[in-house]
Amino acid sequence: MIETKRWDVTNNNDHSKLRIEEAARMLKAGQTVAFPTETVYGLGADATSEDAVAKIFQAKGRPQDNPLIAHVATKEQLQKLVQDIPSYVDKLIDTFSPGPITFVLPSNGACADNVTAGLSTVGVRIPDHPVAQELLKTCTIPIAAPSANLSGKPSPTTADHVWEDLQGKISGIVDGGPTGVGLESTVIDCSQSIPIILRPGGITKEQLELVVGHVMVDPALANEQEKPKAPGMKYTHYSPEVPLWVVSGTVDKLREIVEKERKRGKRVGVLASTETANILEVKPTMNLGSTIQEIATNLYDGLRKFKQSDVDLIICEAFPEQDIGQAVMNRLRKAATQYIEA
Ligand code: TXA
Ligand code: MG
Repeated sequence: MIETKRWDVTNNNDHSKLRIEEAARMLKAGQTVAFPTETVYGLGADATSEDAVAKIFQAKGRPQDNPLIAHVATKEQLQKLVQDIPSYVDKLIDTFSPGPITFVLPSNGACADNVTAGLSTVGVRIPDHPVAQELLKTCTIPIAAPSANLSGKPSPTTADHVWEDLQGKISGIVDGGPTGVGLESTVIDCSQSIPIILRPGGITKEQLELVVGHVMVDPALANEQEKPKAPGMKYTHYSPEVPLWVVSGTVDKLREIVEKERKRGKRVGVLASTETANILEVKPTMNLGSTIQEIATNLYDGLRKFKQSDVDLIICEAFPEQDIGQAVMNRLRKAATQYIEA
């Protein structure tokens, strides 16, 4: 066990500045510190230090072959980690960064080998969150940061989620309040002439295509038999404490399944949109929100809210795969123990 410091910077005052400076000093000294980004909380360490990065893998219990994203504050810093940037990537960076997008580019070797898990490419991202920006600017070094959860669990969208998973295993947590987007960044392979989406996220295929024309999608996202190009996409992910069933179909079908499982003696918790929750009137239901953006923001908190002590099964409705709904359904499919087309 190590002592985990917790800095509250939600007030954004002079204290916050000093606290962020202390967190930056600890990162520069090779320790692990979790911090908020606009997507989810990240667990940071000095991306140029093999020893510091090793602590991330250890704390999370992360498989060694899964590369990390290097976070920087500016485009100038990003350029220092990669080889030449193709012109279409230049356009994407100017349009979407800072923001919820990660560019996989040929590495120039500036990051430690365990950041890239031995690959010739490196994932780089400029987060759009005032706390992340200030921390990265104060550090000046690139910060490797996966989502700050135990491997396999839902990503953290609050400092309490990080605390629940990693307290005693990391040196600190910067608490900047709940994150906004709620799902991880879009990961896009830019090492070839046409960009390929490896993980759907905050920036959609349609948004990317408006800027660069044709964008491909890793075939593994649609077909489970294919091997994904992002190593992390092959692992079990986002799993709540209890089994999760995702049900696509009418609200009546959803109700039928809930009632059937209850008759079998199971304690069932429901995750649904406001609209569905109002028609269903089943308790306990966690209302995820009325728009797909709100549902994305609240999804991981919903998956973490239902504990073994309260329910034996979570049933979540399937959502339309439009806009960030593509990323929502990608995460739900991976988290689900069963997908039911009712
Ligand atoms: O929003 C996010 O991206 C958050 C915040 C903290 O920035 N980070 C995050 O990191 O989700 P992580 O480690 O949980 O997911 C990174 C994903 C993994 O699926 C990994 O395999 C993939 O990006 N990845 C990283 N570097 C790669 C590379 N060089 N080639 C292919 N995939 C890569
Ligand atoms: Mg993750």
